[in-house]
Amino acid sequence: MQIAVIGSGNIGGTLARKWAAAGHQVVIGARDPAKPDVQELVGQLGGVGRAAGIADAVHDSDVVVFAVPGAAMPDTVGSLGSALNGKLVIDATNNIGAAVANSVGPITAAAPGAHVFRAFNIYGFENFADPVLGGVQADMFYAGTDGAARQQAERLIRDVGLNPICLGGLDKAELVDQFLRIWFTLAFEQKKGRRMAFKLLLG
Ligand SMILES: NC(=O)c1ccc[n+]([C@@H]2O[C@H](COP(=O)([O-])OP(=O)(O)OC[C@H]3O[C@@H](n4cnc5c(N)ncnc54)[C@H](OP(=O)(O)O)[C@@H]3O)[C@@H](O)[C@H]2O)c1
Repeated sequence: MQIAVIGSGNIGGTLARKWAAAGHQVVIGARDPAKPDVQELVGQLGGVGRAAGIADAVHDSDVVVFAVPGAAMPDTVGSLGSALNGKLVIDATNNIGAAVANSVGPITAAAPGAHVFRAFNIYGFENFADPVLGGVQADMFYAGTDGAARQQAERLIRDVGLNPICLGGLDKAELVDQFLRIWFTLAFEQKKGRRMAFKLLLG
């Protein structure tokens, strides 16, 4: 797949490295693609990676993953608008402290024809870099559109090394975010630390 990762920080960089290693073409969408830390990330992606402005990265890709601050999402998706239609769009952003952590609303308002998923937001990035904890592969609880796009989303989750667990359609995005709240509570209030993830056990 040709994947645009919008944001080159902790989460964008981690996902980009994983997908490049899995053989996908990755373009980092950045406000300043020439910035040294963006170029350093491109160097880590080998021959399958490059950087571009955000609009160009989106234009060239089938998959768009947002990994920018949640507060920046209304402006970011608003300026892209219908360019996201028809694409698989993954919202990995968290609007920490806001009543709604995800940006599904702004994305679907800007691009009603996008295949939107809520994923890659419930753990710290270290657990995406290394999704096996105590010898067990972590699950990735996610929500999003049914159909062929869901199969592609699950492949992208597997390519990071996580096991996908679908909670349903986009009406379950808030439910995904409950995992985020539990993760934060356990990691910080209960002092379990950031190397922590969840597993569904079936009998
Ligand atoms: N860190 C985690 O463990 C983790 C886990 C899951 C989800 N998340 C979520 O993922 C998102 C990114 O987190 P992060 O830790 O990767 O942050 P980060 O390391 O600070 O990186 C943020 C990235 O967003 C870009 N950015 C900042 N403001 C922007 C704007 N107004 N418009 C466009 N791009 C902008 C930055 O680019 P510039 O160089 O241009 O500033 C940078 O590439 C957040 O929503 C966070 O809640 C984080």
